[in-house]
Amino acid sequence: MPKKIYLQTFGCQMNVYDSERLMGLLASEGHTLTKDPKNADVIVLNTCSVRATAESRALGRLTEFQKYKQRNPKVKLVVAGCMAQRMGADILDRAPLVDLILGPDQILSLADYLRNHQQHSRIDVSVSRDDFDSEGIWEPEVLPKRKTPYTSFVAISRGCDNFCSYCVVPYVRGPERSRPPEQIIREVQKTAKSGRKEATLIGQNVNSYQYQGRDFADLLQMVNDQTDIQWIHFMTSHPKDLSDKLIDTIARLPKVCEHIHLPLQSGSDRILKMMNRGYTSRDYLELARKIKKSVPNASLTTDLIVGFPSESGDDFRRTLDMMQEIEFDSAFMFRYSVREGTKAAAWPDDVPEEEKLDRLHALIELQKEISKKRNQNLVGKTLLVLIDGKSRRDQSKWKGKTRANQTVIVDGEVNLLGQIVPVMVDQTDSFTLFGRLAEANHLPRPSKSDNHKKKKVI
Ligand code: SAH
Ligand code: SF4
Ligand code: F3S
Repeated sequence: MPKKIYLQTFGCQMNVYDSERLMGLLASEGHTLTKDPKNADVIVLNTCSVRATAESRALGRLTEFQKYKQRNPKVKLVVAGCMAQRMGADILDRAPLVDLILGPDQILSLADYLRNHQQHSRIDVSVSRDDFDSEGIWEPEVLPKRKTPYTSFVAISRGCDNFCSYCVVPYVRGPERSRPPEQIIREVQKTAKSGRKEATLIGQNVNSYQYQGRDFADLLQMVNDQTDIQWIHFMTSHPKDLSDKLIDTIARLPKVCEHIHLPLQSGSDRILKMMNRGYTSRDYLELARKIKKSVPNASLTTDLIVGFPSESGDDFRRTLDMMQEIEFDSAFMFRYSVREGTKAAAWPDDVPEEEKLDRLHALIELQKEISKKRNQNLVGKTLLVLIDGKSRRDQSKWKGKTRANQTVIVDGEVNLLGQIVPVMVDQTDSFTLFGRLAEANHLPRPSKSDNHKKKKVI
């Protein structure tokens, strides 16, 4: 019997991708998505554990959804993803009406459960250790189902071996496993054939990708050469593994976009050491310098944490100094959140919540100023933009993304949907660029024949 599925996703790009794969698979078996949980036969929460707030939001939703099940006991309640992995059966103490608990590696088994739930165990949080030449967790027959028709995520690895002292990801996602390049290329090519212009290669640390002697730079070269996708993005990059070879590859390959998301986390060497990040602020500065020198028009974005255990005013100022020195294009900024079982959880969470908030606001203000200034430098320039929809505020305008992942609002009468077009930037603020269509032949498009030429357009 086909079911109506309501699916809510929390957390990072990996969870978004897992949800897309799940929906691709379920849709291929006749099930449909609904936007209304009240109307659903199956309610799925794909959860995140990275900060306490992400878990409490999911638990809040579960409490709400249990009421629907009380009204209609036929409704199936499913908790999947990282919180399912971390809490396992403990979820039933908080939400006893949950029918199924699936860790991130088992999420696709929801399809089996819907076929025959008597045969399926209620809790499955096993970590998949397939050898990756088998079909295993990687390759459902069907393409991930995405809301946006012009962009896509493609996973190149799962899990993480880095054990940053604050982070729960290695515990919930298991060890790092790299996916065979042939599978990655097949999925990128399928996605290109389905009309998508851009693929983002995702992993917790793409730079440590390693499969039978091929590293991430080799993989970029293969995806660049062997698929018809027009733009290749990737995230997340770890500073300790960003090699010169990789920087050179990013600079050289025309399809690879010049955007590097490179989490700094803190500007204080003492805190970086406690975080187990494996680099100093000097190492990071050196990397940022190399990137800016080698990759024309590189956009550098980052993640930062404030209020890590023992972070002093002085440590925090070093983070501000680094931001000023490097001038990130944008940043995700977080308050430290204790995660049970991690190394840092053993240290006192001693920065008062109010102080964490003050520091966070100071970071946000500084980044806003920097982003504004960085964006202003783009006024008068012509950038390539992938148009993916209408502006939400003004339906007469188009919305798109640059190669550096900036949002652009574009004036234009003609239908630009799904096209990569040159746009002249007229105006900017901290978050958005505004512009108009430039001459159609103003910029060369990156193409396969450019493969080995030195770069290129912005
Ligand atoms: N693998 C990626 C992303 C990990 S999670 C990476 O290494 O960058 C995304 C971000 O969440 C991290 O970069 C970090 O800034 C933040 N984060 C992780 N654990 C956290 C915690 N316990 N408290 C606050 N922020 C955290
Ligand atoms: Fe977490 Fe560090 Fe792994 Fe990123 S690299 S997922 S922050 S342990
Ligand atoms: Fe959250 Fe899991 Fe991603 S903990 S950040 S959804 S890997």
